[in-house]
Amino acid sequence: MPNYADRLSTIAPFRVVEMLERARELERDGHQVVHLEVGEPDFSTAEPIVAAGQEALGAGATKYTEALGIPALRAAISDHYANQGLEVDASRIVVTTGASAGLLLLAGLLLNPGDNWLLPDPGYPCNEVFVQLVNGQARALPVTFAQQFQPTADLVAEHWDANTRGILLASPANPTGALLAAEELVAISDFAREHDGVTVLDEIYQGLTYPAPGDESNYPSGLALVPDLFIVNSFSKYFGMTGWRLGWLVLPPGGAEALTPLVQNLFISPPAVSQHAALAAFEPAAMAIHEQRRQRFEQRRDKLYAGLQTLGFGLGPPPAGAFYLYADLAPLGLEMDGLTFARRLLEEQHVAVTPGIDFGGNGTSQYVRFAYTTNSDNIALGLERIGEALARWV
Ligand SMILES: Cc1ncc(COP(=O)(O)O)c(C=O)c1O
Repeated sequence: MPNYADRLSTIAPFRVVEMLERARELERDGHQVVHLEVGEPDFSTAEPIVAAGQEALGAGATKYTEALGIPALRAAISDHYANQGLEVDASRIVVTTGASAGLLLLAGLLLNPGDNWLLPDPGYPCNEVFVQLVNGQARALPVTFAQQFQPTADLVAEHWDANTRGILLASPANPTGALLAAEELVAISDFAREHDGVTVLDEIYQGLTYPAPGDESNYPSGLALVPDLFIVNSFSKYFGMTGWRLGWLVLPPGGAEALTPLVQNLFISPPAVSQHAALAAFEPAAMAIHEQRRQRFEQRRDKLYAGLQTLGFGLGPPPAGAFYLYADLAPLGLEMDGLTFARRLLEEQHVAVTPGIDFGGNGTSQYVRFAYTTNSDNIALGLERIGEALARWV
């Protein structure tokens, strides 16, 4: 047996993988499983994008490209910001192999060994691993139900220490779907800048928002409020392209040049065919499909939220983004934690959800995450089955 690196033992396994594997077994045995655990859109990639990808393959887009992405796509992303009233020069945009590669690249660009970043807990669990891989430290920032699981500038100030070099925010966030209030984003980034730190904003769920009228947190991009943010984005969620592995970064002027050697060494280039396909993602035909899907997600959110609320789960106000509801089990009065709840729900009712512990250690054991990445009929069936379980368990 080779000696695998010590860091492997510090990376927590995803419990949701256990759920998925068991769900597949149940399906093989002929059971209909309702999937409320999956963090990717159920819709397949919009047809105009697929057609563009096929055409690009036929035209020979099978080679490495420019390390920072093909110029046409960097320009198209710049135009996408311009359509939202934001001026972002294409030279500041770096196309990446998904947001995942973007996050790893930023950790490599911004952290020296021993430096730490503040990471909201609960939050997207992989962030911790990106930081640790470059010998940085992930410092948990415990965010609370009362603040809709988004940090405030006061909380950041409380947890910032001499080795803190930045904070990694997400709006809308995973697992909560919550948006970060505009004034907090400004105040947090002001604080970080004053303390020689950076603010990274993960906007991978940008576009998948369902704000109440007048909600000021629904800014098109954090760049509209704070021009020197490091932005992470992706074609995975709003554009429905998870498997194409394509995302992008926006860096302050000069950042793309600084990042280039890292991109060249780690990835050479993002995938060629995916980049050519993504050019079609911003065309009106594809954007119309994305908007229809956004509306479908909003309807699903409303249905799942109302159903879970009726069943007695602890929920904050309806989250205005992504496709998740993060629900507290405590008000149900069950004698079980989120992991047991998820396991029993799958075994007894064939409904798959994600246990809160996948997203950190801050009170997460009494939570589960529901994803509305399945159709309305499945959501209705899932709610019915959860209701049956609760009638037995309470
Ligand atoms: C908040 C957040 N960031 C980043 C990612 C990674 O996305 P991808 O690498 O598919 O672009 C995910 C995936 O679920 C996510 O939820």
